[in-house]
Amino acid sequence: MTRILGIESSCDETAAAVVRDGREILSSVVASQVDVHHKYGGVVPELASREHLRSIVPTVREALERAGVALPDLDVIAVTQGPGLVGSLLVGLTYGKVLAATLGKPLVPVNHIEGHVHAVFLEAHQTGKQPRRPAVCLIVSGGHTVLYGVQTEPVVPIKPAYDCAPSDHFTYVRIGQTRDDAAGEAYDKVAKLLGLGYPGGPVVDALAAHGNDRAVAFTTPVTKGNPHDFSFSGTKTAVLRYVRARPELNQEIAAREAALKRGERKADRLRPLCSATTLDLVASFQRFVVEDLVSRTLAAAEEYAARSVLVSGGVAANSALRAAFEARGYDAGLDVFFPSRALSTDNAAMIAAAAYPLWARGVRAGHDLNAEANLPLA
Ligand code: KG4
Ligand code: ZN
Repeated sequence: MTRILGIESSCDETAAAVVRDGREILSSVVASQVDVHHKYGGVVPELASREHLRSIVPTVREALERAGVALPDLDVIAVTQGPGLVGSLLVGLTYGKVLAATLGKPLVPVNHIEGHVHAVFLEAHQTGKQPRRPAVCLIVSGGHTVLYGVQTEPVVPIKPAYDCAPSDHFTYVRIGQTRDDAAGEAYDKVAKLLGLGYPGGPVVDALAAHGNDRAVAFTTPVTKGNPHDFSFSGTKTAVLRYVRARPELNQEIAAREAALKRGERKADRLRPLCSATTLDLVASFQRFVVEDLVSRTLAAAEEYAARSVLVSGGVAANSALRAAFEARGYDAGLDVFFPSRALSTDNAAMIAAAAYPLWARGVRAGHDLNAEANLPLA
């Protein structure tokens, strides 16, 4: 039995989790900083590191308590090395390093993106249904929009062809990525300019259900050179232009900003402050982004002869994205896998799960381990 403590601090969540044998979540604790960054409409890196410093010790302590595991009982300490905000990464990484050194336990460095891929497999281990490989994985969050081809090699070769052991060696090929904004970033920026608060995704998702998603047309970006690349900044700018061309929207935007200041951040409080024009705009924006993500991913899946599609990262919590992938993936004969909503957004259980096969292969970090803002995966 291997008990791994995962530590995640790459962006604005301080998270710690204990996972047994790469598949059983004993605890998963996430300390969100949303309240701190909300008034700025996005993550402020200096504030993020300060909050990580405040939260890291109680978060790890709570994860251990909930798992019923004492520090000496841990077998491995896993930390997110990158990509992410350096000042944020350094807090979790340094704490993990000190813990590993003090306890004399192995330290395993994990790529945050690989964590998001493992969130899907972790979920699959809970439900018992495994994604067939090769798979195409879309990681879509506030910091990333990237498509990978995912293959696994068994460390122990004798097992059913489609079973995936948590110790399997994962390999990745990058198929496409965003050339500008991440999809979640586009959600957050559109929400900010419409006075809908931060993070924008959940509110836009809820409001979009009340608008006409065909009301506003957007132009599909052509990503010359690689059709599997994404681009969202043009769509965000189109929303901005649409709003600027309608000064009558300014008053309702100001009313929503005032509501946010009073702490009324939920979609059901903001919805009465939205005109039909605004609801149609957010519905059309969401339909366009979802359609773009789904069609580029399914085109990549076809080209790479994938058997399944995996979708992970904060935007994977989006209800329209889930519904579209499920319907169109089914039509294309592909199995589609999402983590639960809690495992879709940043968490440390996915870091501990991703560390398990690395640990099994002997990957270890030394005292010189450093945070890498742009750590590549493939
Ligand atoms: O994975 P995550 O927690 O952190 C990053 O690594 O970025 O993702 C956060 C992002 C934010 O941009 C947020 O607006 C977006 O995920 N998000 C959503 C939804 N829930 C969160 N976007 C669209 N629809 C949602 N339901
Ligand atoms: Zn993430």
